[in-house]
Amino acid sequence: MSFGVYVHWPFCTAKCPYCDFNSHVRAAIDESGWVDGIVSELEWTAAHQVTRPVVETIFFGGGTPSLMSGQSVGRVLQKIAALWPMGNDVEITLEANPASADAARFADYRAAGVNRVSLGVQALNDADLKKLGRLHDVAEAKAALAMAMANFERVSLDLIYARPDQTDAAWRSELKQALAFGTDHLSLYQLTIEPETPYALLHKNGQLHIPDEDLAAGLYETTQELTEAAGLPAYEISNHARLGQESRHNLIYWRYGDYAGVGPGAHGRLALNGQRTATAAIKLPERWRDTVARAGHGFAESTPVSNDEAAREHLLMNLRLSEGLDLAAYEKRWGKAIDTAKIAALREQGFVALDGERLTATPNGRLLLNRVIEALL
Ligand SMILES: C[S@@+](CC[C@H](N)C(=O)[O-])C[C@H]1O[C@@H](n2cnc3c(N)ncnc32)[C@H](O)[C@@H]1O
Ligand code: SF4
Repeated sequence: MSFGVYVHWPFCTAKCPYCDFNSHVRAAIDESGWVDGIVSELEWTAAHQVTRPVVETIFFGGGTPSLMSGQSVGRVLQKIAALWPMGNDVEITLEANPASADAARFADYRAAGVNRVSLGVQALNDADLKKLGRLHDVAEAKAALAMAMANFERVSLDLIYARPDQTDAAWRSELKQALAFGTDHLSLYQLTIEPETPYALLHKNGQLHIPDEDLAAGLYETTQELTEAAGLPAYEISNHARLGQESRHNLIYWRYGDYAGVGPGAHGRLALNGQRTATAAIKLPERWRDTVARAGHGFAESTPVSNDEAAREHLLMNLRLSEGLDLAAYEKRWGKAIDTAKIAALREQGFVALDGERLTATPNGRLLLNRVIEALL
């Protein structure tokens, strides 16, 4: 079973108005103090695992982990290597924001062991970057991308589409530019209006003209068409890669493997004291840090996952992937099969496809995944 470690860095220089990630803006950050907390949580997690899994991937996400120094990243990586056996070719990803990327920092990350960078570019026109509240312009994003590609063999970039007032022609031209950069991985997220964000308020007040359902569906189709033509088809709803360049860390989530999640608000799914457990850390950084100092970890929840819940999560995660679900493996792991009559009904409606033992969600099914899961279980 694959094992990955997720490390959450909860700080950003400014909060983007569309974002509801666990990210916080603070005037001053005692970086080594926060790293102490992450180290404690790693130690606690390793101490409660009965069997010692081999680490195959590590992911620094956020927030903005590119605000961390190379030294802090190195401290976390050394601790992970001291606590668990490491695989042969560990994938170590760090999420970077173009506004906090510089050449020396990238070189330090590389020296610390990072071997993959995921850059939050979001848009390739200055007016839209401004509307998204980004602190960088297109030129800075391109410079950061060039630096990332000079330092790391594996680079991914994030774009958000279905943005306010975006036309299909504009998205086509932007996506073609993004593909021409030549990275082997792209994350292309459709803009989601998240509750309680400044964008939700603007939207409610009619000040945000986001694409309607038909245009958004068209933009999604354009995305599939252009990425497939460029040799980076979707391997997950929003993630595209050349064959073999998929994010191995994210594949652990979607294949329903085991991962530890440390840092404020991080989630994990792993065997603790022999029981599959869902962990979720306290979200507010200061409360998390105080709790870690007292208890050794900041997990607000550490809940046993029942067989039924785990089977449901497994199905939901697998159907996000274009490779889908292996029905035989699912039955073997959870001791129950998915009802063939339910599969047949959804096939007839065009929501799933079946190829031997492989069940996949069709593009239409992926757009309504929660309903597909309910109908299957
Ligand atoms: C943690 S951020 C990436 C690193 C860094 N914080 C940054 O923004 O450059 C993860 C990604 O989620 C995406 N994202 C965040 N909020 C979103 C939303 N409301 N709709 C669509 N994508 C979103 C953005 O593409 C962003 O790059
Ligand atoms: S999109 Fe990235 S930089 Fe912006 S607030 Fe969210 S995590 Fe921070």
